[in-house]
Amino acid sequence: MSLEIRNINKSFGRIKAVDNVSLAIDNGTLVCFLGPSGCGKTTLLRVISGLELPDSGAILVNSQNMSTVPARNRNFGMVFQSYSLFPNMTIAANVAYGLECRKWSRADISQRVNNMLSLVHLEDQSHKFPHQLSGGQQQRVALARALAPKPSVLLLDEPLSALDAKVREELREEIKTLQRNLNITTIMVTHDQEEALTMADRIMVMKDGKVMQTGSPMDIYHRPENPFVAQFIGRMNIVPAGIGIPFSSNGDSKGARAKILGIRPENIKLSDDPASNGELTGIVDRISRLGNLTRFKISLPNKNGLGPVTVVSEVQGSSHDLQVGTPKVLKINPETVRVLEWG
Ligand SMILES: Nc1ncnc2c1ncn2[C@@H]1O[C@H](COP(=O)(O)OP(=O)(O)OP(=O)(O)O)[C@@H](O)[C@H]1O
Ligand SMILES: [Mg+2]
Repeated sequence: MSLEIRNINKSFGRIKAVDNVSLAIDNGTLVCFLGPSGCGKTTLLRVISGLELPDSGAILVNSQNMSTVPARNRNFGMVFQSYSLFPNMTIAANVAYGLECRKWSRADISQRVNNMLSLVHLEDQSHKFPHQLSGGQQQRVALARALAPKPSVLLLDEPLSALDAKVREELREEIKTLQRNLNITTIMVTHDQEEALTMADRIMVMKDGKVMQTGSPMDIYHRPENPFVAQFIGRMNIVPAGIGIPFSSNGDSKGARAKILGIRPENIKLSDDPASNGELTGIVDRISRLGNLTRFKISLPNKNGLGPVTVVSEVQGSSHDLQVGTPKVLKINPETVRVLEWG
């Protein structure tokens, strides 16, 4: 199913939780809503599910307007952040619940529950109660329960945030594989950029209820359109254009002057060759050795009255021969520099 979110607005009193959000989601894709706490991700997901009514705007499934259809009739599967299983029901009963509500036959329910539990590798746990499972297992049951009634769209609200790092990583892959195999249109809310970058086909970055940028993980990482997205996803040096770092113009020929530039630390290389062609020389201020990675803080000379500017450079491997106070020439490919604001 394809899904279209059209100009959704939702306020709580004076708080604008969702501010004119639009997005088209292709059939079978996984989209992540990514943004800091309080930016409106859950509210938007609840509006899509029908649990919350928008002030204005529409939700369309395969071009059909679902805005007035109650949540229970939308046939969307939902997984919440945590503790969403019925504690007094067995795992099998939890998964069966939605099917009983939909009046499936006993035989069909039994078969579907078995299929769903083996899909999430819990076929031998069906008689247990939720408190007898680990957090990761509980979230897999929640996933099985959401998928059991064959929903047209799967909505996941931070399904992994309550789990420890290792389980989270395993489940990421499991969910992604499941989603791809079932070819089910999925929205996943997260504030974890790594989760979004590894799982999503498309990412919608939000701030204060508004969409900051929508694109593929590669777009969002390599071609951020504003300082917020640039800094929210990975590390990014944000510097005034006048400091002298080379840049290409994002293919933008409008002739406006670049004002703010963004450069990823891995795109600043340090060299001992003499500076040529206006290359910048900086002084190594600080060195952090992080095992497989070395991070340098470099201060650049004051230029055009822009004050001292520091940038961070990251180099793979551990480099032992560098010392604080050493001058280094910055090697930067202009193609890797983004113009984040035009003057
Ligand atoms: N039922 C409600 N009544 C009043 N204000 C609400 C309600 N639900 C959400 N809000 C407010 O709307 C804004 C968006 O909240 P929302 O829960 O959608 O954020 P979120 O992006 O999901 O955050 P988090 O990452 O912390 O879960 C917040 O300022 C929140 O306080
Ligand atoms: Mg939330």
